Amino acid sequence: MNIIKVKKIFDPNVIKAKQEIEDYLNKIASVIDLEKNWTLDEALKIEIKKSFIRGLTRFSKINNDLIEIIKKNFNEKIGNAKVNWITLFYPMIHLPNDKVEGGTFHYDDDKLKNFYTCWTPITEYKYPALSILKFQNFLTNLVKNVIIKLRLSKFFSENISVNKSDIFFWNGSMIHSGNINKSQNLSFAYQMKFTDTIYDSEPSINITKKINDTYKNEVYSSENISNSFNKFSTIINLIIENSNNSKLLDDKYIKKILNFYNHPSQEDSFGFSVMSQRIQTHPKIILKKENLIIKKDYIINNLDLFSLLVGFSNYISLLRLLKNNEKNFIKNIIIRNDKFKMYDLKISKILNIY
Ligand SMILES: [Fe+2]
Repeated sequence: MNIIKVKKIFDPNVIKAKQEIEDYLNKIASVIDLEKNWTLDEALKIEIKKSFIRGLTRFSKINNDLIEIIKKNFNEKIGNAKVNWITLFYPMIHLPNDKVEGGTFHYDDDKLKNFYTCWTPITEYKYPALSILKFQNFLTNLVKNVIIKLRLSKFFSENISVNKSDIFFWNGSMIHSGNINKSQNLSFAYQMKFTDTIYDSEPSINITKKINDTYKNEVYSSENISNSFNKFSTIINLIIENSNNSKLLDDKYIKKILNFYNHPSQEDSFGFSVMSQRIQTHPKIILKKENLIIKKDYIINNLDLFSLLVGFSNYISLLRLLKNNEKNFIKNIIIRNDKFKMYDLKISKILNIY
């Protein structure tokens, strides 16, 4: 049994690095007119905006200072961990009262020996962001799984209050949950993994990669943000409108949508992937008003397909497609529509493992 560790670290340098990211977040939110509060009526529209923000921030150069500070703290404070790989920041955004973001109790990974999640708030959290299960070190894995399955964790949990200066690390078997944003403000946090072997759900980067080289995408001007968002939301709406009774859009239509792109977009690829993931988790909330629940599976499939074709920046999209479809069917559709050579570049490698 792994000993559960939650380590909270304070480093004054994080405040400045986070402020730059928060300012960029606020700029994007203002350009795309992100709603101040979550409502069921606007659930779909809001989710498109959140997915766009998550894509844009995940790859931005603005993260380079923060990642170096986090790596340094990890090496100093959890020094004995044998870790070779990290993932990129996985942004999470919760509007006040955001029903799509209430988490359930879970652990992140119990297979890898050296596996740590890093979680750090970018904005000030005015509610307890996380809950963890009490007395975890005294429970066997079997008991923990029963507690999760029967949803008993909430009776034995403690709330964790967080400050903007905090960086949390916990290991893969720590049972925890994110909480609904009960405050009046937008909350935004980053999560990432430190692992000994390559993490199979997301692209991994070698931890020794040189300073200021992890994140490469430009910090966009308001005009660029506005144009990118118009394109992103137009495409999602086209995908949703045209997802019908066939499993995936036909090649002619796929080509039409790919015509929006002159080069791959990691940001849009990640945005499509998290949009698909949110719809899969909360279809009745996100698709209700537009009467789209019946088309749920087709929408998820198509969003995942476009996530692969325009950048393949989240492996989960491929794993989801393989779960719901036959492998050769997916492989052929990718190869027939592979405008940016994603198959040879990245997809074939992952496809061979599954
Ligand atoms: Fe988690």
